[in-house]
Formats: sequence, structure tokens, C-alpha cells
Amino acid sequence: MFNFGRARSQGRQNRSMSLGGLDYADPKKKNNYLGKILLTASLTALCIFMLKQSPTFNTPSVFSRHEPGVTHVLVTGGAGYIGSHAALRLLKDSYRVTIVDNLSRGNLGAVKILQELFPEPGRLQFIYADLGDAKAVNKIFTENAFDAVMHFAAVAYVGESTQFPLKYYHNITSNTLVVLETMAAHGVKTLIYSSTCATYGEPDIMPITEETPQVPINPYGKAKKMAEDIILDFSKNSNMAVMILRYFNVIGSDPEGRLGEAPRPELREHGRISGACFDAARGIMPGLQIKGTDYKTGDGTCVRDYIDVTDLVDAHVKALQKAKPRKVGIYNVGTGKGSSVKEFVEACKKATGVEIKIDYLPRRAGDYAEVYSDPSKIRKELNWTAKHTNLKESLETAWRWQKLHRNGYGSSSSVAVY
Ligand SMILES: NC(=O)c1ccc[n+]([C@@H]2O[C@H](COP(=O)([O-])OP(=O)(O)OC[C@H]3O[C@@H](n4cnc5c(N)ncnc54)[C@H](O)[C@@H]3O)[C@@H](O)[C@H]2O)c1
Repeated sequence: MFNFGRARSQGRQNRSMSLGGLDYADPKKKNNYLGKILLTASLTALCIFMLKQSPTFNTPSVFSRHEPGVTHVLVTGGAGYIGSHAALRLLKDSYRVTIVDNLSRGNLGAVKILQELFPEPGRLQFIYADLGDAKAVNKIFTENAFDAVMHFAAVAYVGESTQFPLKYYHNITSNTLVVLETMAAHGVKTLIYSSTCATYGEPDIMPITEETPQVPINPYGKAKKMAEDIILDFSKNSNMAVMILRYFNVIGSDPEGRLGEAPRPELREHGRISGACFDAARGIMPGLQIKGTDYKTGDGTCVRDYIDVTDLVDAHVKALQKAKPRKVGIYNVGTGKGSSVKEFVEACKKATGVEIKIDYLPRRAGDYAEVYSDPSKIRKELNWTAKHTNLKESLETAWRWQKLHRNGYGSSSSVAVY
């Protein structure tokens, strides 16, 4: 502050001296001064003229125009685990992609990788924004011509949702309403919505079909179900094509090793089983705790349906291709086969080659014994079926990325933000 003030007053002193002295008195110098102003003005005018003649001036960005043969997909949460894998697949399949993310949980490093893979103009842009900010979302839709939205962005940890329920209702339910309202206002016709098997709660009968009653038992599942209900009610009187995909437990990463799963360290305590296994294998955690060995399952531990992220994003592309105006498709996305926690841990030990230490503890409140999908509807209607169903192989792929990215995506501040 002090330095700045002094520099200014000195500058003024100098200027007034030259005006009051030599410059003002000498007509030649006065002409020079005027000449410089005229020259600057004409150069500025010339620059403006040239810019106006340039094909890119006045021409809106390619992202703001619908282009025949090009489908422009808005991927919300595209800096996150599943969203980044979906963006990669869409870009590979020649879609135009806009990622919107507030980076609260995702990684700019993932966006940077995508930008490096697809640097050509009009392929990928990243917009930093919070979906809770309706004005910002409206501006994004005004400035971009989207053909479809894949809405991944969400906070997504069951445990955290019980601690901070309002955060979940806001981030999931309320933000989905914002996205839907803005899509309707701007005539965007297709929505692919990321839902979850957590909307079913704890059904008695396995496997879970799309007809299984949805009775969610935690704020995460409830918030997702509310978002689904809003979408379903809206779609009754709308032309929108809607696909709701209810994922089971997502694992794995890009088989070519470009992307991976890198949640923030502070979310570790809420973490998912694969993250916990890898942390234990890397020695970040002393070992693994298996909570509950007396469930009515084959080996007494909980059973879950693990779906590889590569298969999951394939389901999204198929859903996008088959989405029809005025139609809603609801699909379970799982393998149809349950694996126990013990089996998962054994697969993880084999995939990492590390003898992970296991502690067996009593049950954790709120865990249900067995959850697995019946994926026959998505097989029949979307011709989709899970291909990466070998747990050890999916975990090996993910572990390869984890080993090479000990700090996740690291610091990637040099990414271009548009
Ligand atoms: N991972 C799973 O096993 C699983 C299972 C079922 C459903 N899902 C659903 O899949 C979706 C993606 O999950 P993920 O595992 O990739 O999570 P993630 O945390 O890796 O990614 C979510 C992304 O959304 C962004 N985001 C969050 N709130 C935002 C906001 N208000 N505005 C803009 N961006 C915001 C985050 O920054 C992050 O990049 C979520 O909707 C989740 O509920 C995930």
C-alpha cells in the first residue's frame, strides 16, 4: 500500500513538471505528442477493423452452434471419476463435449489429460461452475448449444450423507432441478441421469429389478430418488428423452491407463471399497477392516454387484443412442452377479500382489447383506451387457493407474480453463 502510494505521487510530480515546463512550451513537441495520439488511435481503429474482418470475430464459438452430424453433450461432473471416463469415451466416439464441474471433488488433472488427448478446436471445453448457481447454469446454456446432458455431478458417499443430509438434498435434488429447468428453458432434448442402487434401499428379494420398490434408507439414496421423481414427473408432460441409469458399485479405470479414480484424501474415511483396498496395499492405511462376518451370505460378508467403469460408460453411450423423445428408460447397470467382501479383498490382494492385513469387526449399522442387480432389461432394450466381469482384472487395471499416480492427478494448475 505504502509503496504504491509513493510511486503514484512521484508519477504525478513528473507529469506536471513536464507539462508546465518544456513539453507545453515547445510546439514541435506538442505536435509530436498529438501525432503519437493520432497514430495510436489509427492503429487501434485498424486492429478493430482487422479483427472484425477475421472469420473468428463475431462468429460464435463452435460450441454455441448446433452442427449437423455432431452431438454436443454437456457432461456435468466430468472432472470426477465416472464423468471423466464418460467424457473420454464420448470424445473417442466423436461427440463434442462440454464439461461443467465446480472441482469440489473432481480433478482438473483429469480434464487436462482429456484436453491433451483431444486438443482440436470444437472437441472439448471445460467450464468451471457450480450447478447450484442457477444464473451461471443459465448463462452456460445460453452460450452453448447442447444436444444432450449427462448429469453425473453429485456428492456421492452414503456415510457422508448421513452426517450432512442437507448438503446431499441440495447438491443432488435441488441441483438436478436446476439442470432440468434450464434444459427445458433452452429446449435441450435428452437427459441421461446418474442414479444409484441406493434408491432401492434394502429389498428382501434379490436380484433387484427396475420394478423392485424403491425404499431408500439414507439421505444419499433418498436425494437421488427425489431427483428421479422430479425428472419422472416433468417428463410426463414433456418431449424430453430421458434415461435413468441406476448404477451398482463402480470399480476399475480406463484400460489404457489415462484416467483413474482419485478422490480427495479427506474423503478417504467415507471411501469406497476399492479405494480402501488400494490404500491398504500402498501402506497408506495399516490394513482393511471387514465389518460383519455373520450376514446370511455364502461366506458371511456383505455381497455387492461390482460394475466396471468401462462397461458403465458404454451403457451411457447406448442409452444416449437409444433415447427417444417423450420416453423414459430406467435401467439397472450391474453385472447381475454378487461378490462378497471377502472375495473382493482376495481379488484385490491378487491384483496388487500385496498381502493386505485384514481385521474382522462386528457389523456396521446401515449395511445391508446382499445387493445385486438383474440387468436383463438393459440387455434386452439397449443391447448392453457387462463385459469386464472379472474382479481381479478390473482391479489390476485400476491398480496400474494407482501405482503410477501415488498423488492422484497431482497438481495440474496449468490446464486451460475456458
Ligand atoms: N461411484 C459409484 O460407485 C457410484 C454408484 C452409483 C451412482 N454414482 C453416481 O455417479 C455420479 C458420479 O459419481 P463419481 O463416483 O464419479 O463421483 P465423483 O465425486 O468422482 O465425481 C462427481 C463430480 O461432480 C462434481 N460436482 C459435485 N457437485 C457439483 C456442483 N454442485 N457443481 C458442479 N460440479 C459438481 C465434483 O467436483 C466431481 O468432479 C454421481 O451422480 C453418483 O451419485 C456413483
